Amino acid sequence: MSRLVVQGGKKLKGSIEVPGAKNAVLPILAASLLSTKPIRLEHCPHLLDVDNMLLILRYLGCSAEWDQDSLVINAASADKCVMPDHLAKELRSSIFMLGPVLGRFKKALFSYPGGCEIGHRPIDLHLHGLSALNVRIVEEHGHIICDGKELTGASIHLDYPSVGATENLMMAAVAAKGQSMIFNAAREPEIEDLQNFLNLMGCQVSGAGTSTIAINGGFEPCPVTYRIIPDRIVTGTLMCAAAITGGDIQLYNIRPAHLGSIVSKLREAGCAIDVYADSLRIRGPHRPRELKLVETLPHPGFPTDMQAQVFALCTIADGTSIIVENVFENRFKHASELARMGAVSMLKDRTAIIRGVPRLTGAQVTARDLRGGAALVLAGLCADGTTVVNSAEHIDRGYERLENMLNSLGAEVYREN
Ligand code: UD1
Repeated sequence: MSRLVVQGGKKLKGSIEVPGAKNAVLPILAASLLSTKPIRLEHCPHLLDVDNMLLILRYLGCSAEWDQDSLVINAASADKCVMPDHLAKELRSSIFMLGPVLGRFKKALFSYPGGCEIGHRPIDLHLHGLSALNVRIVEEHGHIICDGKELTGASIHLDYPSVGATENLMMAAVAAKGQSMIFNAAREPEIEDLQNFLNLMGCQVSGAGTSTIAINGGFEPCPVTYRIIPDRIVTGTLMCAAAITGGDIQLYNIRPAHLGSIVSKLREAGCAIDVYADSLRIRGPHRPRELKLVETLPHPGFPTDMQAQVFALCTIADGTSIIVENVFENRFKHASELARMGAVSMLKDRTAIIRGVPRLTGAQVTARDLRGGAALVLAGLCADGTTVVNSAEHIDRGYERLENMLNSLGAEVYREN
């Protein structure tokens, strides 16, 4: 257990480069299993979730090593199709391995996945899609037993544009016989990143970024060197850090096209944002304006992974803000922790009403999940006095030493183990 101690009251200033995206590197690591040729992934973030994914790959028989901020993977010697309990529980993204394991070995024995406690997070869409690809699935005693001998391309209609299900099905379909179409696919930038990686590896995938993805099954793998896209959620979190402290920062290595809804909401809150080809400058207001309505939605809507950070910003806004969380059903755990710092909010089902107060006060709070934990650190940056964020390991799942990033921008945050 470690905790982050935040000394409030510093306006952030300076510039920083944004690391590669967690949600891009995890499925791409999973997809590496489909290849027998060497793979090098550049600009990977050093995160707990990434290290857990490497443990899974090694367990399955792959070699997977860091070389500074690159990952060098070789799955030629992979020889297991089993996902044991202890690994599945560490990382919800273990479910991404189901498609590649089936693609590679045509069979799989998996435990149900774990991960962030932000709702039930069922996997019915993944399993439904795999059944459409002619995989026989038996679920018993917390295990999923899959027979993919007859893995065959098909048309799949997703009831909901699930990010993980779209990615999993893409990875199974590239190894299936014949053509597949995924309708109502998720459109997140990370899905396009996965498509680009798969195509470099020799696959034929098109349409990612739109809601219809076409896949020609069967491919001859080739060696790949690939650079992971920048993390739009880390970018958004740092933008909120500038916004909440009235700071003035520049962020490098960003993709403006991935940030539309975040830039739009932060402008509404009174931030001045200049967006360039691959960088941006954000200047926070003296005090943020209220946000009349923030609704989380699948991309290109406002990302659920930015909801908690924007919630923190609204706690000090000049007015009352409304946030509706449409994607996950249990994602307001930060509200009661922020209340310990003086924030005023009311929750009803999926809606939060937040009445901004002029100041927060430092307190002892606890991170309950990854993004909620980051929101508490943001609140600490603008609070009077010292904030201690317990259970910081949640934050480490998605931010590479958040304290170092913030300190390089003039914050005062240190870690106690
Ligand atoms: C991914 C991201 C996560 C982000 C989320 C939504 C990764 C590693 N994680 O998670 O950071 O918050 O997208 O943008 O990329 N659902 C079902 N059945 C399923 C699958 C999902 O009902 O089979 C529901 C979920 O419970 C949730 C909603 O669909 O309510 C969205 O989930 P999904 O898009 O699948 O998110 P993840 O892929 O888990």
